[in-house]
Amino acid sequence: MADEPLVLGIETSCDETGVGIVRGHTLLADAVASSVDDHARYGGVVPEIASRAHLEAMVPTIQRALKEAGVAASDLDGIAVTAGPGLAGALLVGVSAAKAYAYALGKPLYGVNHLASHICVDQLEHGALPEPTMALLVSGGHSSLLLAPDITSDVRPLGSTIDDAAGEAFDKVARVLGLGFPGGPAVDRHARDGDPKAIRFPRGLTGPRDAPYDFSFSGLKTAVARWVEAQRRDGLDVPVADVAASFQEAVVDVLTRKAIRACKEHGVDHLMIGGGVAANSRLRSLALERCEDAGIVLRVPRRALCTDNGAMVAALGAEMVARNRPSSTWDLPADSSLPVTEVSVPGHSHPHPEEHTHSHDHVHELSKDNLY
Ligand code: KG4
Ligand code: ZN
Repeated sequence: MADEPLVLGIETSCDETGVGIVRGHTLLADAVASSVDDHARYGGVVPEIASRAHLEAMVPTIQRALKEAGVAASDLDGIAVTAGPGLAGALLVGVSAAKAYAYALGKPLYGVNHLASHICVDQLEHGALPEPTMALLVSGGHSSLLLAPDITSDVRPLGSTIDDAAGEAFDKVARVLGLGFPGGPAVDRHARDGDPKAIRFPRGLTGPRDAPYDFSFSGLKTAVARWVEAQRRDGLDVPVADVAASFQEAVVDVLTRKAIRACKEHGVDHLMIGGGVAANSRLRSLALERCEDAGIVLRVPRRALCTDNGAMVAALGAEMVARNRPSSTWDLPADSSLPVTEVSVPGHSHPHPEEHTHSHDHVHELSKDNLY
């Protein structure tokens, strides 16, 4: 519908320069430039390389998104940007670009949380999120169970990883198996030819006295590394497909079990799964199986919307505009450790930091004092 908010979203928290454009719940453009190949030889994301790549990709990616959406920048109702969490230097490139475009165009600026954006993106796929939404967020940096009564203002963490994130475990196991970086897609691919019951790897924090919604994957990662080392020491071949399948099964077994328990105990009859690991084929199929058994509706966005992208940021920005949430001031900071509970960042000089209802029409005054 033409009266729904038209928002451009910028994502630069890690190694993807993402620019998305949405109108309400409709995806119009999703342009992503990745620097992943530049990091592969280092076995992980190098922050300085990521920042430089964002800088080079920013303007062309914005232009590509506007062209793809067939809209003029002047038609936008707002510019949303990931304010955190993520790599500080990388975030700063996105936040600075968003400020420059918003100020030049006279549009409101919305600094939003990367994690809430991973949840909100599902509105582009499956329509309005139910309230509350139960979300399992699994990425390279986070594994959390979140209860979101309102995705623009109220996200409550029920539990999270106490050590490695799920994606991090995939990346580390892939390294042990010599499958390269990033490891998730490679483990997923090899696991298809393997037996998930070949090796019984530990299921972390699933004892009766363990925290019901917290996760731990570092013990599992160590168990896989020890098993592989023992094989090599004994001069035996490492059955890569079986190790990948058995490791993957241990991760997704715990993730889905805890997510469904959270739904049941909180009386929520649907589950949203987001973040890069939600692209995992076994996680998707086991979650579907277990949700069906439990009478829970599963919502998982298509793979391209699970990994980092700008459309997810635009989706949350559009929801903020639709609900008249306040825009951010020009001194909006990039916060590398932004807590998941802070869905949006008002900016240091926001006149009403506690208020969540005033009009988005107001574009904040720029003065020398409230720019960086
Ligand atoms: O959400 P994301 O793109 O970036 C972060 O915010 O971290 O997630 C990236 C993570 C990486 O650890 C990557 O290995 C993992 O998601 N990943 C996968 C798959 N695709 C990406 N993990 C398992 N299976 C996959 N198919
Ligand atoms: Zn992410």
